[in-house]
Amino acid sequence: MRVLIVYYSMYGHVHRMAAAVAEGAKEVAASEVVLRRVPETLSEEILGKMGAVEAQKSMAHIPVCTIAELETADAVLFGTPTRFGNMCGQMRQFLDASGGLWQKGALVGKVGSVFTSSNTQHGGQESTILSFHITLLHQGFIVVGLPYTFQGQMRMDEITGGSPYGASTIAGADGSRMPSENELAAARFQGRHVADIAAKLSRTP
Ligand SMILES: Cc1cc2nc3c(=O)[nH]c(=O)nc-3n(C[C@H](O)[C@H](O)[C@H](O)COP(=O)(O)O)c2cc1C
Repeated sequence: MRVLIVYYSMYGHVHRMAAAVAEGAKEVAASEVVLRRVPETLSEEILGKMGAVEAQKSMAHIPVCTIAELETADAVLFGTPTRFGNMCGQMRQFLDASGGLWQKGALVGKVGSVFTSSNTQHGGQESTILSFHITLLHQGFIVVGLPYTFQGQMRMDEITGGSPYGASTIAGADGSRMPSENELAAARFQGRHVADIAAKLSRTP
């Protein structure tokens, strides 16, 4: 039972969340967890202007995902930063290259789930995840979120990401806030939950 975690991260927030998702997925017996980045679409020059070069270097050891790898997974957890309330262009471009899989129905019946990061608390985390689900539904994924059995999403004693739609982190206006313990716990929960469902489905004759 293979769980693929595929993400884009410019400054490392989604990357950190992806690692926590992987930790959670690994807790499910018999799950093989594969961590991948989607291809970059921006030039070195633009990444430099966006102050992302150092962060990109720190993630360079994560292999870049191919479209073919989507087909090999039983479950896919997608991670994307919020861009104007939507997924980032790098993820969009990656998904737009999956038309061949759509034609074959190759992703139908796989488990799909989304997590995200945004700078501001109400800057579009939910719209990013929910609009991402549209693509997953077109591809025939069984969409899974972050159920309220992860009670950390009800916390009122601190600012936190996380909603029934998926785990998330709030990076802060200047991007200096890294995922909190509660947000990482949400990511681990989602990883475990998705892997658990995929394991049950893969046992179904
Ligand atoms: C073009 C652009 C659009 C963005 N749009 C939003 C937005 O709509 N809401 C928000 O809160 N943050 C927005 N951000 C901030 C990113 O969500 C933030 O940089 C990201 O969550 C950090 O995650 P990462 O380090 O994994 O890239 C935007 C950033 C860029 C560069």
